[in-house]
Amino acid sequence: MSVILAIESSCDDTSVAICNNGKITANVIANQTIHQNYGGVIPELASRVHQQNIVPAVHQALLNAKVTKQDINAVAFTRGPGLLGSLLVGVSFAKSFALALNIPLISVNHMHAHILAHFIDDPKPNFPFLCLTVSGGHTQIVLVKDYFDMEIVGETLDDAAGEAFDKTAKILQLPYPGGPLIDKYAQLGDPQKFKFAVPQIPDLNFSFSGFKTSILYFIRKQEQEHPNFIAENLNDICASVQYSIVQILLNKLKKAAKLYGINEIAIAGGVSANSGLRNKLQDVAVTEGWKVYIPAFQYCTDNAGMIAIAGYQKFLKGDFVGQEVSPMARMEF
Ligand SMILES: Nc1ncnc2c1ncn2[C@@H]1O[C@H](COP(=O)(O)OP(=O)(O)OP(=O)(O)O)[C@@H](O)[C@H]1O
Ligand SMILES: [Mg+2]
Repeated sequence: MSVILAIESSCDDTSVAICNNGKITANVIANQTIHQNYGGVIPELASRVHQQNIVPAVHQALLNAKVTKQDINAVAFTRGPGLLGSLLVGVSFAKSFALALNIPLISVNHMHAHILAHFIDDPKPNFPFLCLTVSGGHTQIVLVKDYFDMEIVGETLDDAAGEAFDKTAKILQLPYPGGPLIDKYAQLGDPQKFKFAVPQIPDLNFSFSGFKTSILYFIRKQEQEHPNFIAENLNDICASVQYSIVQILLNKLKKAAKLYGINEIAIAGGVSANSGLRNKLQDVAVTEGWKVYIPAFQYCTDNAGMIAIAGYQKFLKGDFVGQEVSPMARMEF
């Protein structure tokens, strides 16, 4: 029997979840809207809002899961990677909570957790599988051999896919985070209207920095010639950019699947919420003979449910850490 409380505070979402015998019974996410005023996450503000949100989020999670503090058997927390000030709030809270209740502490790598989110609901992938993790800070193709035996076989050399969405949105004068808005407008546009150069990067790696610059120059040029270009073509620009990003991601995923002879394919991270990626992956699954795994929306972007399920697997192995543990802004995969 196990009831695990999990804390996620690596960036700008304060999240608390409960895992009761392998089932997620609460997943509270307190978003921080203050960053919208600045067009991106301000680390100092993120830490302060985590401080305000963490205790109410814990109370809400306990209520939702219908458990009390005394029922908790272990505390799992995100150790890294992430913003140090944000991580410090979650790690300090987790340590104090574990100390007060005299229960073990479980350290979780945020990027492992994005992938392990696939073990929350059914159907669950079979090992080995390939996971395309696409988020605000990472773009990776991971060969997942077991819960904690994972190897990065391809990754971005510069910007992440989420950044490509967010920076494009900024060019289009849309508020932060722009990824979900590009997705929304793309659904009303023509994906073939504008063509953007797809980067030619060897192996299974990615690059989005040149791609972003080509969009910037294209928009600038068009705006000089037609002052209302963005407003008049917003849906088509969003659809075309999204189409290109999805194409870049899925081409590499196809290459990886062939190279490793694997047809169990998963996606994870915030960008896996993108409707274009989700739909296209289903189409490619048919042509390539893949079995695909797409997480529920609430487990795509940052959430403590994924930390709780990773924590549960570590709890089963008795993999605990001591009170001397500290957060890591950069953490080895
Ligand atoms: N529907 C969507 N379409 C495109 N992008 C999206 C969508 N929903 C969220 N995103 C993008 O996902 C990213 C946030 O994902 P996530 O919360 O996993 O990232 P992060 O935690 O900031 O980064 P990391 O996990 O690498 O540390 C943002 O870049 C956001 O724009
Ligand atoms: Mg994340």
